[in-house]
Amino acid sequence: MTGMRPAAAVGDGVAAIDTPALVIDLDAMERNLAAMAAFAREHRIKLRPHAKLHKSAAIARLQIAAGAVGVCVQKLSEAEVLADAGITDIYVSNEVIAEPKLARLAALAGRIQLAIAVDSALGIDRLAAALKTADSMADVFVEIDVGQGRCGVAPAAAGALAHQVVSHGLRFAGLQAYHGGAQHLRTAAEREAAIRHVVSLVRAAQAGITASGLRCPLVTGAGTGSFVFEAASGVYGELQAGSYLFMDRDYADNEPTPHAPRFEHALFVKSQVVSRGPSHAVVDAGHKSHAIDSGLPGVWQRELVFGNGGDEHGILRPRPDAGRAALPALGETVWLVPGHCDPTVNLHDHYIGLRGGLANGVVEAVWPVDARGGVR
Ligand SMILES: Cc1ncc(COP(=O)(O)O)c(C=O)c1O
Repeated sequence: MTGMRPAAAVGDGVAAIDTPALVIDLDAMERNLAAMAAFAREHRIKLRPHAKLHKSAAIARLQIAAGAVGVCVQKLSEAEVLADAGITDIYVSNEVIAEPKLARLAALAGRIQLAIAVDSALGIDRLAAALKTADSMADVFVEIDVGQGRCGVAPAAAGALAHQVVSHGLRFAGLQAYHGGAQHLRTAAEREAAIRHVVSLVRAAQAGITASGLRCPLVTGAGTGSFVFEAASGVYGELQAGSYLFMDRDYADNEPTPHAPRFEHALFVKSQVVSRGPSHAVVDAGHKSHAIDSGLPGVWQRELVFGNGGDEHGILRPRPDAGRAALPALGETVWLVPGHCDPTVNLHDHYIGLRGGLANGVVEAVWPVDARGGVR
């Protein structure tokens, strides 16, 4: 296997970063990291950031050094890669059903602190069998559906699953309660109302569990769009937000939440103009450089609109209120703000970490996207 050559080396100036490249503004990322860690500290709530965003052991280590109790992932392969790179406390906040995968999960549980979500009797039986075979142990969260209509059981069914977990001799760790659909409701009031409903469902599930004689040690969930409300609920003990670290165009389109830290864009795709027409410019970054599931990228601090140019290109035109003078020249750098950071990261082999700003910064770090392609 041959590896892709990184777009720059440590010590390079910003001009030397080849394009397209996935670039972290390290100063902005560290401010986001510190702001979230401070929020969790002040609200006396655990922070377990979602590493599905960055898939990077180097970044997970920074989060843990700043106070995170560990990280979440969505995929077992992400957990394996991060564990191999030295991360020792990982929660797979997702269901795993296939027996070969559960055998891998049980092996992993033998060497790190591992937790997993379940939402079915079959899943619990298979998990218990795999852990028994491997003679290992995992924390088990029962996932409830709090409105997304994705994974999770109805709150009333949580107690029975918790009992099944315990009956196998496994550790019932509490409830997984995450509402992805609430994260991008545009107004803070809409998000607050959605999480109020989520909290009422969590309380109902907790009540059922307690009434059946079990303790519910922890409720875990929340994302960047809603974590202020989960933290204020008094019900959640752990926050799983991930995107706050990089932010993306879609999150910037949310109305800010009052009393929430203001997170900055810290993840960019550096692109350059490779062709110029009379009223448009073409950059060398298309769908293979940035995900478009949440819309096209924004153009950073330019009076330009990014238009779909296909897999390898983007077509820039002046904003309606700007003239043709806004168009960049051939060879000029254009910084793009991805519409959605998680799947954008998964398109790249490396991060280029820039210190000192996008205009005159110097490359301080080149990090692999360790769990890139980890979808199993
Ligand atoms: C289960 C779970 N928890 C937490 C998050 C983090 O959300 P965000 O990246 O929006 O902060 C996600 C993101 O999809 C998720 O799926």
